[in-house]
Amino acid sequence: MVSMKKIQISPSILSADFSQLANEIKRLEDGGADMIHVDVMDGHFVPNLTIGPPVIKSLKKHSSILFDVHLMISPVHKYIKAYADAGADIITIHPEATDDIDSSISLIKELNKKVGVSLNPETKVDIIIEHLDKIDLVLIMSVNPGFGGQKFMPEVLSKIEELKKQRSAKDLDFDIEIDGGINFENSKIAIQAGANILVSGTTIFKSNNGDIKKNIELLKSK
Ligand code: DX5
Ligand code: ZN
Repeated sequence: MVSMKKIQISPSILSADFSQLANEIKRLEDGGADMIHVDVMDGHFVPNLTIGPPVIKSLKKHSSILFDVHLMISPVHKYIKAYADAGADIITIHPEATDDIDSSISLIKELNKKVGVSLNPETKVDIIIEHLDKIDLVLIMSVNPGFGGQKFMPEVLSKIEELKKQRSAKDLDFDIEIDGGINFENSKIAIQAGANILVSGTTIFKSNNGDIKKNIELLKSK
C-alpha cells in the first residue's frame, strides 16, 4: 500500500530568536507551519542545554498550534509527565534514554499524548520493530542530536524505506518525521524516501531573509 500522507512542516524553534519566542511562534503559525518542533536538551544526553516545561507551558498559552516536543534528555521517564502537563501534544523520546521503552511509551499514551520514538543516525530500526504498533511517529535523526545547523546525513534514508515496509506489512499508520540539516534540496529526497513530517530550524528561519511562508512552501514542494 502506498502511503498518501500529507507533507507537514514542523519548524524547530531552536533557530528562533529566544528573546521573542511567543512572537516567533506566531510568525510560524501565520507562515503555515503545521506544528512547532521543540528541542529539549539536557546537557547530558546531548552536549547542549535548551528549555524545559515552564517555558513550554508559557508558550502554549500564547498559541493554538500543535507542540511537537523532542526530548533529548536522560533518564527521560521521570520527566514525561511534566512535559505532558506543560502542553506537549506529541512527546518523542530516544530509546537509549529510558530503561524500559515499553513503559515509557505506555506512560505517554496514558497521558493522552501522541508517542514518538527517535532514532539517532547510528541507531537501527530493529530496536523499535516490536513497538511499532504502539507508536504514532518515528523521528529519524539526520544529524547527531545536540545542535542546529549541522550537515544532513543521507545514509539515514534507508531506515525510512525499512520503516515504510514494516508499516505496510503490519498495516500500521505511524508518521515518519525527519530531523536535522533539512534544506530545499534534501527535503525532496526525504519526501521521496517516505518522510511525511519535515523538521527544520536553520532553513526555515535563515533562508530567503527569514521569509517563513516562502521557506515552508519550498520545503513542501516535491
Ligand atoms: C538537533 C535537533 C534538530 C535541529 C534542527 O538536535 O533535534 O531539531 O536543531 O535544526 P536544523 O534544521 O538547523 O538542523
Ligand atoms: Zn529535534
